Amino acid sequence: MSSSEREAIGVIGTGYVGLVTAAGFADLGNEVWCIDIDEAKITGLKEGRIPIWEPGLEQLVERHRERLHFSTDLADALEHARLLFVAVGTPPTYSGDADLSAVRAVVDAMPASDRHALVMKSTVPVGTGDSIKRTFAEQAKGGFRYVSCPEFLKEGSAVKDFLEPDRVVVGDDRDWAGDAVVQLYAPLGAPLVRTDIRSAEMVKLASNAFLATKISFINEIANVCEETGADVVEVARGMGLDDRIGPKFLQAGIGFGGSCFPKDVAALKQLAGNSGYHFQLLNSVIEVNELQKRRVIAKLHKHLGSLVGKEIALLGLAFKPNTDDMREASSLVLSARLNAAGARVRAYDPVAETEARKLIQGVDFKPSAAEAVQGADAAVLVTEWPEFAELDFDAVASAMRGKLLVDGRNFLDPDAVNAAGLIYEGVGRPGRLADGGAVARYGGA
Ligand SMILES: NC(=O)c1ccc[n+]([C@@H]2O[C@H](COP(=O)([O-])OP(=O)(O)OC[C@H]3O[C@@H](n4cnc5c(N)ncnc54)[C@H](O)[C@@H]3O)[C@@H](O)[C@H]2O)c1
Repeated sequence: MSSSEREAIGVIGTGYVGLVTAAGFADLGNEVWCIDIDEAKITGLKEGRIPIWEPGLEQLVERHRERLHFSTDLADALEHARLLFVAVGTPPTYSGDADLSAVRAVVDAMPASDRHALVMKSTVPVGTGDSIKRTFAEQAKGGFRYVSCPEFLKEGSAVKDFLEPDRVVVGDDRDWAGDAVVQLYAPLGAPLVRTDIRSAEMVKLASNAFLATKISFINEIANVCEETGADVVEVARGMGLDDRIGPKFLQAGIGFGGSCFPKDVAALKQLAGNSGYHFQLLNSVIEVNELQKRRVIAKLHKHLGSLVGKEIALLGLAFKPNTDDMREASSLVLSARLNAAGARVRAYDPVAETEARKLIQGVDFKPSAAEAVQGADAAVLVTEWPEFAELDFDAVASAMRGKLLVDGRNFLDPDAVNAAGLIYEGVGRPGRLADGGAVARYGGA
């Protein structure tokens, strides 16, 4: 693609998806107009401050500073760009439906135009595109084009995922706008699924629901492993080598969280329900996930008895490593349950403390893992940050008051933990007492 063919594009909403999309398209040589209603965010971005913690993003934004323009005024994007990517939030409502108020605000702010198109990156229910097109028609903006282009990036590797996507999905009415989006992504050389708008919307929801199902499935296998003495890590290894199954999303743990899976699974379940279909499997996926977060509490009770007054250290708070995103993190449920059980909770996370402080009450934040475990009756690994694999377990054992280490992500080496004289409890694998003996199972023969 020559530089003369490159687009000037607009990106509305400069959060995780918007900012990565903007920086990614700038990296491909395009001029990008980034719009957000959050004035502080835009001021910060103009001054080179990146509002989120995402590997490689700061460097990418810095490298393409000349091509990235930040503004709170939508008119700036409308003036320069014909494609307006929408990356505003679609959080869950109390009913489980997606809250489309931010999307609707963007739609209503569009002028009548034959030269612009909205390109939907936000995750929206199937039928949203058709409903937006109806709104455009009612508002005498029928010339405005619409393209669904769902986003599949993962927080923690978002820049890489943008630049090396597994696929690009474009749902459109086979017009200039869909062609332009396809052209824009062409330099990435990714497999393209060009389809109708409803199918593109469903690809996103179904993909997240499937991945969530895989996680809840392996978590249930883990729970059965605990009853039967099998080790889910070995089981997953054996299963994952079957290329019909694959090894990804087969890590048992304390449940999925984050800004996407919980809300997208709920939104698909709700969408099905609204259309008169009871999506039984997704109900179970959600319920298994809720229960999984609470199983850690049972493990703590098993070893410590009552948790009243017990000092519990949480290692990691973010919903997964390499992000500071705390939305729907398992640590939110865990810390609340521990507080309710009368425990005293201290926690350390390498990057998510600022975000965590906005959402968590009753937690004493510590500046390092070493300080978090000092005097603790038990430690729980909640997020598999790489630095926790490097912990000096001898030092941890001598700093703690108790001996229990619950590995909520099956991330640590049980032998190394055990060799330091600590009790190791993973998820779905045989627990080991401090002397290397087996921890009694919950039940079964
Ligand atoms: N975070 C992810 O990993 C991920 C991955 C794939 C898809 N998605 C989807 O992408 C969408 C955005 O997610 P996110 O995590 O980037 O959200 P986010 O909350 O990080 O960012 C949303 C941004 O939109 C801005 N905004 C809200 N209303 C606006 C308006 N009217 N005009 C301009 N800006 C406005 C907000 O100020 C905020 O900066 C959601 O639908 C989400 O489901 C997210």
